[in-house]
Amino acid sequence: MEPLVTVTIDGRTVQVPKGTLVVEAARQAGIEIPVFCYHPKLKPVGACRMCFVQVEKMPGLVTACTTTVAEGMVVYTTTPPVVKAQNAVIEFLLLNHPLDCPVCDRGGECPLQDNTFKFGLAESRYIEPKRHFIKPVALSPYILLDRERCILCYRCVRFQREIAGDESLTVLDRGDHSEIGLAPGRTFDSPFSGNTIELCPVGALTSTLYRFRARPWDLKSVPSVCTQCGVGCNIQIDVRANTILRLLSRENTPVDDGWLCDRGRFTYRFVHDPARLTRPLRRVNGALQPVSWHEALETVAERIQAIVAAAGPQAVGGLAAPTATNEELYLFQKVLRAVVGTNNIDHTVRPHPPVAPLAYDAVTGSIVGLERARTLVLVDCATRSEQPVLHLRLRKAVANGAQLVLIQSAEPDLWTFPDEPPRRPLWLRPRPGTEAVVVAGLVHLILAQGRENREFVAQRTEGLETLRASAAAFTPERVEAETGVPAALLRRAVDLLLAAPTAAFLYRRDLQGLPSDRLLVAGLYDLALLTGNLGRPGTGLYPLVRHANSQGALDLGVHPRLLPGQRPVTERAGRAALEALWGTPVPAEPGLSGADMIEAALAGRLRALYLLGRDPLADHPDPERVRQALARLDLLIVQDILPSPAMEMAHLVLPGLSFAEKEGTLTSLERRIQRLRPAVVNQTEARSDWRILQDVANRLGGLFLYAGPDEVFAEIARAVPFYAGLTYEALGDKGLQWPATVQQDGAGVDLYADGERRWALLPLETEPKVVR
Ligand code: SF4
Ligand code: SF4
Ligand code: FES
Repeated sequence: MEPLVTVTIDGRTVQVPKGTLVVEAARQAGIEIPVFCYHPKLKPVGACRMCFVQVEKMPGLVTACTTTVAEGMVVYTTTPPVVKAQNAVIEFLLLNHPLDCPVCDRGGECPLQDNTFKFGLAESRYIEPKRHFIKPVALSPYILLDRERCILCYRCVRFQREIAGDESLTVLDRGDHSEIGLAPGRTFDSPFSGNTIELCPVGALTSTLYRFRARPWDLKSVPSVCTQCGVGCNIQIDVRANTILRLLSRENTPVDDGWLCDRGRFTYRFVHDPARLTRPLRRVNGALQPVSWHEALETVAERIQAIVAAAGPQAVGGLAAPTATNEELYLFQKVLRAVVGTNNIDHTVRPHPPVAPLAYDAVTGSIVGLERARTLVLVDCATRSEQPVLHLRLRKAVANGAQLVLIQSAEPDLWTFPDEPPRRPLWLRPRPGTEAVVVAGLVHLILAQGRENREFVAQRTEGLETLRASAAAFTPERVEAETGVPAALLRRAVDLLLAAPTAAFLYRRDLQGLPSDRLLVAGLYDLALLTGNLGRPGTGLYPLVRHANSQGALDLGVHPRLLPGQRPVTERAGRAALEALWGTPVPAEPGLSGADMIEAALAGRLRALYLLGRDPLADHPDPERVRQALARLDLLIVQDILPSPAMEMAHLVLPGLSFAEKEGTLTSLERRIQRLRPAVVNQTEARSDWRILQDVANRLGGLFLYAGPDEVFAEIARAVPFYAGLTYEALGDKGLQWPATVQQDGAGVDLYADGERRWALLPLETEPKVVR
């Protein structure tokens, strides 16, 4: 923490860390200094001169966005010279600005408009013709540029270079001919391009989807969360006449740093898709026919009961999407476990990956904690496409000095990390499928060189000698022969890893199903323990999930072998706790996984399948096999929002609600539980998914009496030990990372920080035992 310095601004004294910019010190003192080019997330450039202030003992005026505070500094923001300069800058910026505010998308929320009112002159002296351009220029399918509105603040260009890591935008020509445009030979295909629309302080960059569709004062804004991946970026849903017109970033700094990716920002039109399912459907004489909810629910219950009576509860199974809310997922598994009596429940049709034998199957650190990692080891990740805004956090960490070690055979999905010394990533490029051997080689080298963290290993682990014996085989020579990674590079990676006070290890949780997956997970887990990188900010294991609520599905027992709270179904105590809460028996036998359900359906053992927002035809590696399996079922129930291939084979279709129409929570990849809120009202017969599940449960003989998702969440907080103490109110607008029950002031929450448990090092080339 930098020492504090005391400054006086317009007579107000404020203490701020040394190095703070005057513009930020003024903000802390509650004083507004107008800006255009300055943005707190971008490096200052001093381009627009809007932020002029007067500083005692400094000649002339200085720009507050490029001047740092000094002890005893005295600043004035409203003296006559400052006001005169502000008037002049505004007048200059308006020389060529078209002042077409009445038809400009930015009108009503435009910094140029606001600053002109507050800091400009009432009348213009300029009567000459203004610059005119052919307009608009399409920079991409999503973004249009109206060049005459541009005030050349360079925020868009700087964002792309500094934050997104590409050179797609640039300044063309010079002097008063300068204009923003595409760099020669480039397209604006950045997955982060939409952020430039929000950053532009005028209406020069506009969205093709939103342009001319509303005035800001006509919009209703609802805070919510993006559901397009596991990062959980916070969004604002802007609605007019019950129609979503745009999604904006709603900064939750520890999660998203104020950014959205384009997938998150522009994927919402499906909510208003005319093809949305609007009524329950039942198959009659081979065709799906509309029926009432009463008929649909009665049919679901009658047919499930008939199948259970004839073939037992194990003939029924359910697959839920890892994008459903926690409340829906919890009710889904409760219907199947407590009412039907089966553990045939899953959220995937792919094999479950091996997991590190820690207490929880979850990321051990936090997204913001990655900024404190000095070494980042990424194994076969594709963050730029799979967790885009997390990718920006990794870039930020590298820009702050973190060293990146990439272990992957594929070319990184666009080389968007700094590619110059000293921050050039160390890329260990093994032959495809041999990443695990490289990781084992790192373990071998650390042990062979006696460089493990002896204090941590002695206090927090056991099984060192067994690991040493198993790792002996992974010599650098063998690793080089098997993987093609030179032994010298392996040694360099170990040096980097051990030189760093903090290191984090990131990999895809949904591994590729290779025989070596277990070795990979074991090796990364051992690396974290041998180097003492667990339980502190900037350290930890990060198995990255892809979907918006994959973590919630794991936490809430949408899994054939795990109950809510990630407790094994075979564990008596876990079942007893749930039985006491639910008042019904909980089946003790592990159920069929999603992949096994497909096989059981093919074999005629599974006769009913309930799909909640999940289409196995889209996810399974062999869709034809799934098609044959679904065709053999006596009952296929599809609860979804849009037609899907599986729906073509369904016996019953139950229309649910989209993310923008419902209430609930999602648990992001960093264990952060955040609230979805309804922004639009579905005016068809579609119903909330939690309510459909409750109605199905009650028709099957259950007694579900929840008044709303908040009551379901209250029960989740009793069923899941690490959600204990949480309520919708406690989650607030920013969410909480379990097991925290109060806000952490922007710091991340690390699991295992208490240092109380000892962890068993895993011998390499054996199966990690899941210890819970
Ligand atoms: S287009 Fe907007 S963000 Fe880019 S330089 Fe012009 S005014 Fe600034
Ligand atoms: S990174 Fe993920 S959560 Fe964030 S905006 Fe993009 S898709 Fe949405
Ligand atoms: S805001 Fe300071 S120079 Fe632009």
